[in-house]
Amino acid sequence: MPVWGALFLLWAAEAAKDCPTQCTCQALETMGLRVDCEGRGLTALPALPAHTRHLLLVNNSLRSIPPGAFDHLPQLQTLSVSQNPWHCDCSLTYLRLWLEDRMPEALPLVRCASPALATHRSLGQLTGYELGDCGWQLQASWAAPGFWGDVALLVVATLGLALLAGLLCTVTEPLD
Ligand SMILES: *[C@@H]1O[C@H](CO)[C@@H](O)[C@H](O)[C@H]1NC(C)=O
Repeated sequence: MPVWGALFLLWAAEAAKDCPTQCTCQALETMGLRVDCEGRGLTALPALPAHTRHLLLVNNSLRSIPPGAFDHLPQLQTLSVSQNPWHCDCSLTYLRLWLEDRMPEALPLVRCASPALATHRSLGQLTGYELGDCGWQLQASWAAPGFWGDVALLVVATLGLALLAGLLCTVTEPLD
Protein backbone atom coordinates (compact mmCIF):
# COMPACT_ATOMS: atom_id res chain seq x y z
CA MET A 1 0.00 0.00 0.00
CA PRO A 2 2.71 2.59 0.82
CA VAL A 3 4.40 1.76 -2.50
CA TRP A 4 1.17 2.35 -4.36
CA GLY A 5 0.61 5.56 -2.41
CA ALA A 6 4.06 6.84 -3.29
CA LEU A 7 3.63 5.91 -6.95
CA PHE A 8 0.29 7.67 -7.06
CA LEU A 9 1.79 10.82 -5.55
CA LEU A 10 4.58 10.72 -8.12
CA TRP A 11 2.09 10.28 -10.93
CA ALA A 12 -0.17 13.02 -9.57
CA ALA A 13 2.72 15.49 -9.38
CA GLU A 14 3.79 14.61 -12.92
CA ALA A 15 0.29 14.80 -14.40
CA ALA A 16 -0.56 18.08 -12.69
CA LYS A 17 2.56 19.77 -14.13
CA ASP A 18 0.62 20.39 -17.34
CA CYS A 19 -2.27 22.04 -15.51
CA PRO A 20 -3.27 25.30 -17.25
CA THR A 21 -2.39 28.29 -15.08
CA GLN A 22 -6.01 29.53 -15.14
CA CYS A 23 -7.37 26.22 -13.80
CA THR A 24 -6.94 23.93 -10.82
CA CYS A 25 -6.22 20.25 -11.36
CA GLN A 26 -7.02 17.42 -9.01
CA ALA A 27 -5.54 13.94 -9.51
CA LEU A 28 -8.09 11.15 -9.27
CA GLU A 29 -7.18 7.74 -7.82
CA THR A 30 -8.20 6.24 -11.15
CA MET A 31 -5.26 7.99 -12.90
CA GLY A 32 -7.15 10.83 -14.42
CA LEU A 33 -7.39 14.55 -13.80
CA ARG A 34 -10.31 16.72 -12.83
CA VAL A 35 -9.55 20.05 -14.49
CA ASP A 36 -11.58 22.88 -12.99
CA CYS A 37 -11.66 26.09 -15.03
CA GLU A 38 -15.03 27.38 -13.79
CA GLY A 39 -15.68 31.13 -13.70
CA ARG A 40 -12.19 32.21 -14.79
CA GLY A 41 -13.30 34.59 -17.53
CA LEU A 42 -11.75 32.35 -20.20
CA THR A 43 -12.25 33.51 -23.79
CA ALA A 44 -10.31 30.60 -25.30
CA LEU A 45 -9.84 26.99 -24.36
CA PRO A 46 -6.51 26.58 -22.50
CA ALA A 47 -4.02 23.84 -23.45
CA LEU A 48 -5.26 20.79 -21.55
CA PRO A 49 -3.24 18.03 -19.85
CA ALA A 50 -3.27 14.66 -21.63
CA HIS A 51 -4.85 12.92 -18.60
CA THR A 52 -7.88 15.22 -18.42
CA ARG A 53 -10.88 13.08 -17.38
CA HIS A 54 -13.40 15.69 -16.22
CA LEU A 55 -13.31 19.19 -17.67
CA LEU A 56 -15.28 22.02 -16.06
CA LEU A 57 -15.71 25.13 -18.20
CA VAL A 58 -18.94 26.48 -16.69
CA ASN A 59 -19.40 30.28 -16.42
CA ASN A 60 -16.70 31.60 -18.76
CA SER A 61 -16.68 33.77 -21.88
CA LEU A 62 -16.12 30.97 -24.38
CA ARG A 63 -17.71 31.45 -27.80
CA SER A 64 -16.17 28.53 -29.63
CA ILE A 65 -14.20 25.29 -29.30
CA PRO A 66 -11.64 24.61 -32.06
CA PRO A 67 -12.45 21.48 -34.09
CA GLY A 68 -10.39 18.54 -32.80
CA ALA A 69 -9.72 20.23 -29.44
CA PHE A 70 -10.40 17.03 -27.45
CA ASP A 71 -8.89 14.52 -29.88
CA HIS A 72 -5.68 14.23 -27.83
CA LEU A 73 -7.62 13.55 -24.61
CA PRO A 74 -8.54 9.84 -24.78
CA GLN A 75 -9.58 9.78 -21.13
CA LEU A 76 -11.98 12.71 -21.31
CA GLN A 77 -15.36 11.56 -20.01
CA THR A 78 -17.32 14.57 -18.88
CA LEU A 79 -17.48 18.10 -20.08
CA SER A 80 -19.49 20.89 -18.45
CA VAL A 81 -19.81 23.90 -20.71
CA SER A 82 -22.98 25.72 -19.64
CA GLN A 83 -23.08 29.50 -18.95
CA ASN A 84 -20.86 30.55 -21.84
CA PRO A 85 -21.82 32.90 -24.72
CA TRP A 86 -21.59 30.17 -27.37
CA HIS A 87 -21.54 31.30 -30.98
CA CYS A 88 -23.52 28.47 -32.54
CA ASP A 89 -22.38 28.27 -36.14
CA CYS A 90 -20.62 25.56 -38.09
CA SER A 91 -17.45 25.97 -36.03
CA LEU A 92 -19.29 24.45 -33.06
CA THR A 93 -20.12 21.27 -34.97
CA TYR A 94 -17.18 19.50 -33.30
CA LEU A 95 -18.49 20.25 -29.79
CA ARG A 96 -21.99 19.24 -30.81
CA LEU A 97 -20.87 15.87 -32.21
CA TRP A 98 -18.61 15.23 -29.20
CA LEU A 99 -21.51 15.81 -26.80
CA GLU A 100 -23.97 13.88 -28.96
CA ASP A 101 -21.67 10.85 -28.89
CA ARG A 102 -20.64 10.90 -25.25
CA MET A 103 -23.07 12.87 -23.12
CA PRO A 104 -26.21 13.84 -25.07
CA GLU A 105 -27.94 14.80 -21.80
CA ALA A 106 -25.66 17.86 -21.66
CA LEU A 107 -26.68 19.26 -25.07
CA PRO A 108 -29.76 21.19 -23.85
CA LEU A 109 -27.50 23.01 -21.37
CA VAL A 110 -25.38 24.51 -24.13
CA ARG A 111 -27.28 27.75 -24.76
CA CYS A 112 -26.39 29.83 -27.79
CA ALA A 113 -25.77 33.59 -27.42
CA SER A 114 -25.32 34.20 -31.16
CA PRO A 115 -25.82 34.38 -34.15
CA ALA A 116 -29.33 35.92 -34.19
CA LEU A 117 -30.86 32.75 -35.66
CA ALA A 118 -29.67 30.67 -32.70
CA THR A 119 -30.14 33.07 -29.77
CA HIS A 120 -31.90 31.55 -26.75
CA ARG A 121 -31.82 28.10 -28.27
CA SER A 122 -29.60 25.20 -27.32
CA LEU A 123 -26.88 23.72 -29.48
CA GLY A 124 -28.82 20.44 -29.62
CA GLN A 125 -31.94 22.12 -31.07
CA LEU A 126 -30.23 23.50 -34.16
CA THR A 127 -30.45 21.60 -37.41
CA GLY A 128 -27.40 21.03 -39.59
CA TYR A 129 -28.74 23.69 -41.97
CA GLU A 130 -29.03 26.24 -39.15
CA LEU A 131 -25.51 25.53 -37.94
CA GLY A 132 -24.27 26.18 -41.46
CA ASP A 133 -21.99 24.02 -43.51
CA CYS A 134 -18.65 25.91 -43.31
CA GLY A 135 -18.53 25.89 -47.11
CA TRP A 136 -18.29 22.09 -47.35
CA GLN A 137 -21.26 21.93 -49.67
CA LEU A 138 -19.68 24.45 -52.03
CA GLN A 139 -16.50 22.40 -52.19
CA ALA A 140 -18.46 19.22 -52.80
CA SER A 141 -20.29 20.71 -55.79
CA TRP A 142 -17.01 21.97 -57.26
CA ALA A 143 -15.53 18.49 -56.98
CA ALA A 144 -18.59 16.84 -58.54
CA PRO A 145 -18.00 15.32 -62.00
CA GLY A 146 -21.09 17.14 -63.30
CA PHE A 147 -19.41 20.49 -62.78
CA TRP A 148 -16.23 19.63 -64.73
CA GLY A 149 -18.36 17.99 -67.42
CA ASP A 150 -20.18 21.29 -67.85
CA VAL A 151 -16.88 23.18 -68.03
CA ALA A 152 -15.55 20.82 -70.73
CA LEU A 153 -18.74 21.20 -72.73
CA LEU A 154 -18.52 25.00 -72.49
CA VAL A 155 -14.87 24.99 -73.65
CA VAL A 156 -15.66 22.74 -76.63
CA ALA A 157 -18.68 24.88 -77.57
CA THR A 158 -16.61 28.10 -77.38
CA LEU A 159 -13.82 26.61 -79.51
CA GLY A 160 -16.39 25.40 -82.02
CA LEU A 161 -17.97 28.85 -82.29
CA ALA A 162 -14.58 30.51 -82.73
CA LEU A 163 -13.69 28.05 -85.49
CA LEU A 164 -17.02 28.66 -87.22
CA ALA A 165 -16.55 32.43 -87.02
CA GLY A 166 -13.04 32.07 -88.45
CA LEU A 167 -14.34 29.93 -91.31
CA LEU A 168 -17.14 32.37 -92.11
CA CYS A 169 -14.65 35.26 -92.25
CA THR A 170 -12.32 33.47 -94.66
CA VAL A 171 -15.25 32.37 -96.82
CA THR A 172 -16.84 35.83 -97.03
CA GLU A 173 -13.62 37.79 -97.56
CA PRO A 174 -13.05 37.00 -101.29
CA LEU A 175 -16.62 38.09 -102.06
CA ASP A 176 -15.92 41.73 -101.17
C1 LIG B 1 -18.98 33.48 -12.78
O1 LIG B 1 -17.63 33.83 -12.82
C2 LIG B 1 -17.34 35.13 -12.36
C3 LIG B 1 -15.87 35.36 -12.55
O2 LIG B 1 -15.53 35.30 -13.90
C4 LIG B 1 -17.78 35.26 -10.90
O3 LIG B 1 -17.53 36.56 -10.43
C5 LIG B 1 -19.27 34.93 -10.78
O4 LIG B 1 -19.65 34.93 -9.44
C6 LIG B 1 -19.55 33.57 -11.39
N1 LIG B 1 -21.00 33.36 -11.44
C7 LIG B 1 -21.55 32.23 -11.02
C8 LIG B 1 -23.02 32.15 -11.17
O5 LIG B 1 -20.91 31.32 -10.55
